[in-house]
Amino acid sequence: MRKPIIAGNWKMFKTRDEAIAFIYKVSEAMPSIKEVDTVICAQAPMMRCLIKRQGENLRIGAQNLYYEDEGAFTGEVSGSLLNSYNVEYVIIGHSERRNYFNETDEMVNKKIKAALRNDLRPIVCVGEHLEERENNLTNQVLTTQIKGAFEGISAIEMEQIVIAYEPIWAIGTGKTATSEQANESCGYIRELVRELYGSIVADGIRIQYGGSVKPENIDELLAKEHIDGALIGGASLDPDKFIAMANAATKK
Ligand code: PGA
Repeated sequence: MRKPIIAGNWKMFKTRDEAIAFIYKVSEAMPSIKEVDTVICAQAPMMRCLIKRQGENLRIGAQNLYYEDEGAFTGEVSGSLLNSYNVEYVIIGHSERRNYFNETDEMVNKKIKAALRNDLRPIVCVGEHLEERENNLTNQVLTTQIKGAFEGISAIEMEQIVIAYEPIWAIGTGKTATSEQANESCGYIRELVRELYGSIVADGIRIQYGGSVKPENIDELLAKEHIDGALIGGASLDPDKFIAMANAATKK
């Protein structure tokens, strides 16, 4: 039995006051942590003020971290700092980081290791470009990304990890993958994890779908066998929509 996980990725949106108003409104309306894990991943400087206000069943996560724990890396955020603020989750390898900030699978791997040694739970993003899907390269891309990301990560460490399958062509475009396409790719990722780590890890690991998820399509996506939750950008900025999507996951 995999507990669903609904995570909002706020990207570079919301001011401090807007974020606090959101957390006040949403915390009370979240489903029980026994049924669903809910997370909001916000810009790093907001973290402290949001954590002070988070309810038991709404976690605050980060959108990125650097792979060294300290040093002369101006502008970066360390896993040790996130840990000291009791941050629980951190998104790693989002396609926007891969595309605009040149993150490679090797960097994703180092960031996962940094997160794990600082007791953070990585939400590791993978997904293909449109041309790759059209050229039947989706599985090949996912294989390279998954093998690269988890190189040197043990089966026990995998228990801390959430994977988000996010086809790049569906992010922020309003084009959702069909629930069949999303389930097929999430199922493919689960089989890769099975090959690498065996069935206990593969059957336990949570795999989210992300890419234009909204209240209108979340039920159909979550009804699929291999989709254990959602990573939500645009629609997670609206408190009513986030509440609706978090509660939709209780039906899983
Ligand atoms: P979207 O973004 O829901 O706005 O498509 C998803 C994501 O980037 O994680």
